[in-house]
Formats: sequence, structure tokens, C-alpha cells
Amino acid sequence: MERTFIAIKPDGVQRGLMGEIIGRFEAKGFTLVGMKLIKPTRELAEKHYGVHKDKPFFGGLVDFITSGPLVAMVWEGEGVVASARKLIGATNPLTAEPGTIRGDFGISIGRNIIHGSDAVETAQSEIALWFSEEELTSWESKMKTSIYE
Ligand code: RTP
Ligand code: MG
Repeated sequence: MERTFIAIKPDGVQRGLMGEIIGRFEAKGFTLVGMKLIKPTRELAEKHYGVHKDKPFFGGLVDFITSGPLVAMVWEGEGVVASARKLIGATNPLTAEPGTIRGDFGISIGRNIIHGSDAVETAQSEIALWFSEEELTSWESKMKTSIYE
């Protein structure tokens, strides 16, 4: 089954949106297989956003992501990588559609509340970066036959 890496960023934690965000993924029908509240090291944040290391916003992005605790999660389900990106919405919260997490709760691009892996391969490397195998728990929801045809 497909898995993706989701992080409620420090702004989402500070704004008290953890329950709201987790609830949206639960209500959709996805399964939570790993979760922890951590204040990431600079090394971890720089690796996570390594693809952006030459961008002008990289320093500020790493400063922000390491500024406080975030909720790192792994969610599982059919098509979860692409679906999570839709639930999250466009990078800029001002242009993100209402109904998406960023569209409903954010304004600034540098305070866009949540991260989601952008492709299946990215998800695999991000999950391996943030979690050990022992921190992930495979389980089957008893609602599975009501969620999947
Ligand atoms: P994320 O990786 O955090 O899920 O966001 P994303 O895929 O929607 O966007 P991405 O292009 O990967 O950018 C990563 C994060 O960098 C910040 N950013 N700032 N000032 C800017 O022009 C700018 N562009 C991107 C955002 O916080 C974005 O989420
Ligand atoms: Mg990205």
C-alpha cells in the first residue's frame, strides 16, 4: 500500500491546527502508520528541503522549520501521495482553493502550515529520512471494507 510523509509545520502546531489536520486525513479514509512531535535539527531540515538549497528562500525555510516542534507523520492508502497534495492545496495559501488545508487556514507562502511529499519516490526517501522502521506500525482499519470497494 502507498505511503506518504506529511508534516504539520511549526506554524500549524502553534496555531492549534493539529487535530483539525489529522482529522481531515482520518475522515478521508487514510491510515496513520507513524507519528511524532519533534523539533528537527538543522541537518535534518536541510536534507529534507535539499532540493531547494540554491533557492533564495532556503535559509529562511530551514530557520522556520527548525524554529519549533512539528508533527511528522506517515499516512497510508491507495493513491495517498497525490491525494494528500490535493487535501493540502497549492503552495501559496492565497491561491490555494478553499476546502484545502492551506486554502482554509493560511495566507503567506512561508507559513503554509503543512508539508506533503510530491511524488511516490520522494515519499519513500522522506519517510526513511524522518522515521526508523521500528517507528512505523502497519495495521488494518476495521472500516477498510467500507472505505475500499
Ligand atoms: P512543501 O514541500 O513544504 O510541502 O511545499 P510545496 O511542495 O508545496 O512547495 P515547494 O516548492 O517544495 O517549497 C517548499 C516550501 O518552501 C517555501 N517557499 N517559499 N518565498 C518563496 O517563494 C517560497 N517558495 C517556496 C514554502 O513554505 C514551501 O512550502
Ligand atoms: Mg515540496
